[in-house]
Amino acid sequence: MSIARAGAVQGWNSRTTFVLALSASAVGLGNLWRFSYLAGEYGGAPFVVTYIVCLFLVAVPLMVAEVVVGSHGRGGPVAALRWASDRSLLSRGWTAIGWLACLTGVLILSYYVVVAGWALAYARYMQAGVFSAASAAVVGEQFSALLAEPLRQVYWQSLFLLLAAGFVLFGVRRGLGLLVWLAVPVLITMLAVLVKFSFDNGDMVAAREFLFSVKWIDFSPRAVLVALGHALFTLGVGVGAGISYGAYAPGRIPIGRSVMAVAVFDTMIALLAGLAIFPLVFANNMAPAMGPGLLFVSVPYAFGNVAQGELFGAVFFLLVVVAALGSAVAMLEPVVRTLMQQLRWRRVTAVLLVTGLVWLLSLGVVLSLRTAESTAWLANSNLFSFFDAVTAQFLLPLVALSTAVFVGWRLRPEILRVELYRESALFFSLWRALLRYIAPAAIMLIMLANLVTPG
Ligand code: PFF
Repeated sequence: MSIARAGAVQGWNSRTTFVLALSASAVGLGNLWRFSYLAGEYGGAPFVVTYIVCLFLVAVPLMVAEVVVGSHGRGGPVAALRWASDRSLLSRGWTAIGWLACLTGVLILSYYVVVAGWALAYARYMQAGVFSAASAAVVGEQFSALLAEPLRQVYWQSLFLLLAAGFVLFGVRRGLGLLVWLAVPVLITMLAVLVKFSFDNGDMVAAREFLFSVKWIDFSPRAVLVALGHALFTLGVGVGAGISYGAYAPGRIPIGRSVMAVAVFDTMIALLAGLAIFPLVFANNMAPAMGPGLLFVSVPYAFGNVAQGELFGAVFFLLVVVAALGSAVAMLEPVVRTLMQQLRWRRVTAVLLVTGLVWLLSLGVVLSLRTAESTAWLANSNLFSFFDAVTAQFLLPLVALSTAVFVGWRLRPEILRVELYRESALFFSLWRALLRYIAPAAIMLIMLANLVTPG
């Protein structure tokens, strides 16, 4: 028995837990603050269709590849890649992909927890009625005030990180298993309630027009690249979550169909989030935005100015927290698992070290936000935009590209076939072709475009 297999843990007994875990990882801030805005800005329906094509032709095959490596190697990213390299008589240099995935996860987390912290703070503000009947200017000032106060941010983000660490600490079955069975139903319920609220109180027609009408004029080559980048990010490809969760999945699951189910679910949540947010934004005559401006200015203003907005606004921000929690745990677990396997640390030691590191980095993010000019903070160079740019434009595509080359070109096809034996021969050939040709070409295109016109 090799080290990877010997270090393998008892995973989940049910396929549903695996699908829920991947879903909880996929649904995150990307669904709530990016997708619907991008759809509206980049051409409406043609953008949505392009995104779906990219999701199924590029992101899904890559996620299947990650899960295949995990279920083959039964370990964290590094151990599983080592096992897979050994089995196919390849250089162990391929394990570098695993380390790179861990680094990417830590860097994404260090700004992700900051935003999750803001969301926790806003749930409290909403519930306390801070935004009741406030003007847009007052809501904007409130956000700037929060950004200028590192201590308050640190308090909320520490709380969030503690929560995420708690679930990871309790291990695969009692921690992650429990979280995903709770988080996914809670997410669906809260979102359904919010869409209904938005339907009753917002301007659904304007929102539908913004999201789904066909605006060819806005649909540029850039839109295709944005759709592709978003498809990769939203499925959570590139930080080793697919590998770790694939290692915990029960043997003999239909990997392809499971990942496709996750992709469909993730897209539905993103569309529903658009229908929860934009009707209220438009009903209050706000211009559509994305990112922090959408979540922390337009949305609180919109909720603050409708009846019962305090309650539903608080629900909205709790939804953001729960979505971010599943994603944070998915980024923490591969790193923790890797340290446990490579350095033979106990789970508690690994969790303490990784969360400590993320906490320190996120402290840096918060402090750099304070020094950035608070009104146009995102335009300034700060650690937040830096980590975001480095991961989205460079690290995530790099890990995804190397994974595609490793699994598509280097691993022995017989091994892959065994892992995917529940899928048809047609599916297998199609998947392998997409992984070998389409995915690398698409990712290289993203990287090249980012080099030429960053941002
Ligand atoms: N998919 C998440 C989102 O849309 O916000 C981000 C993410 C989660 C990336 C988990 C990577 C990951 F492992």
